[in-house]
Amino acid sequence: GKSSIGVYGMGVMGQSLALNMMNHGYQVSVFNIDYDVTEKFVQTKALGKSVQPCKELKEFTDSLEKPRRVFLMVTAGKVTDLVIDQLKECLEEGDIIIDGGNSYFKDTIRRFKELREYGLHFIGTGVSGGEKGALEGPSMMPSGDPEAYQYVEQIFTDISAKAKDGAPCCAYIGGDGSGHYVKMVHNGIEYADIQIICEAYDLMRNGAGFSIEEIQQVFEQWNQGRLKSYLIEITSKILKKKDEETGKYLVDVIQDKAGQKGTGKWTSMEGLDIGAAIPTIAESVFSRYISAQKEERVRASLELTVNLSAEVTDKEEFVRDLEAAVYAAKICCYAQGFELLKKAAAEYGWVLDFGQIAMIWREGCIIRADFLEDIKAAYDQGEVSNLMLTSKFKKELLDAQKSWRRIVCHIVNSGIYAPALTSTLNYFDGYRCERTSANLTQAQRDFFGAHTYERTDREGIFHTIWEEE
Ligand code: 6PG
Repeated sequence: GKSSIGVYGMGVMGQSLALNMMNHGYQVSVFNIDYDVTEKFVQTKALGKSVQPCKELKEFTDSLEKPRRVFLMVTAGKVTDLVIDQLKECLEEGDIIIDGGNSYFKDTIRRFKELREYGLHFIGTGVSGGEKGALEGPSMMPSGDPEAYQYVEQIFTDISAKAKDGAPCCAYIGGDGSGHYVKMVHNGIEYADIQIICEAYDLMRNGAGFSIEEIQQVFEQWNQGRLKSYLIEITSKILKKKDEETGKYLVDVIQDKAGQKGTGKWTSMEGLDIGAAIPTIAESVFSRYISAQKEERVRASLELTVNLSAEVTDKEEFVRDLEAAVYAAKICCYAQGFELLKKAAAEYGWVLDFGQIAMIWREGCIIRADFLEDIKAAYDQGEVSNLMLTSKFKKELLDAQKSWRRIVCHIVNSGIYAPALTSTLNYFDGYRCERTSANLTQAQRDFFGAHTYERTDREGIFHTIWEEE
């Protein structure tokens, strides 16, 4: 018989997703540009499962039930456009193309429009959780036509991760590119969350003289408390791993140059474009750039030497402070992500359910944590202007003040590069600042460019002749 769905692209993600669908009782047609890969997949991982390997594109689309559902798992960017161009020749009105790649949301908006003119439905969906997530249950963030979504809802719900209460970590996000947008913001938060954790590690390691064993213990302990999350958990596992060759801890022999595929950069660019302050996310991207200039840093470390002294006398107290600082920064970075989503909803005309977005990030994705339930609870309390102002987070941010500031002082005094922990405190201080220095900015702009200013004491637009000619 015909297959319920087709998966185009047999990379690791495509294979895992196809297997996940088969494991949930769906017959899946699979296609890959290079048939050898498909053949190998069918003879190994998919052996004995309900799979239909296809050599030709027409054979692939003909093998599908109508309306046809084609799930693309190909490289984001040009490849996705090429594939869509070929596919649309083989599809009929009402068929549905789903893009599960890490596509740029503006591409998704464009493809959605183009395909609609062609009579085809397009669903852009964020898929998070890497290879394992794709196989065992990813967090899914689909968007597009609500009618088209009806045709994929069951499959998506079945294959997605399930939260502890059994709820699927998949929900319809909104129109056109909103699913990929939400995935992009997920990745921005992922960058920031990772950066905060790495700074905590670095502070313990190089700013307080902890051994790897001690740091490992700290992360293990943190994973029992309010910081409990997938990223903290894997950190505690990573810090146990020894290098087989040298017998050293593997982290100690890994080069300190971070890679990136661009989604954190997109998030940061979006913040700049639509006027949302998301410094923790942007700093995390910059820190990867700085990390990548290894040789230059090594040279500079010899030239720009600074005499510093910062001591940690009470390690337990230091760890308590650090936990509070990490937690406070985490609240702020999520607040930034959700602030960006709020501004984006207004900018692009989407109706986003922020509480629900938090709920589908509880399992399956990289930032998964029980913490997301607190965000949902905050949204349930009523109108939220910013998460930092909601009762629980507000109290926790205020409770963390002394600790967070002590940690930032320690960072400054020890000369450790920790932009997320420090700039986030600055962001917090900026957000709660009643009167900033922008009055002087306005005066300067008016001085040199007659850019005008507003006054505090009366309505209107003003310009001053600052100097007699
Ligand atoms: C996910 C991840 C994933 C992303 C990697 C690597 O949700 O499964 O976000 O989509 O590609 O985390 O991202 P970088 O290479 O940019 O660090």
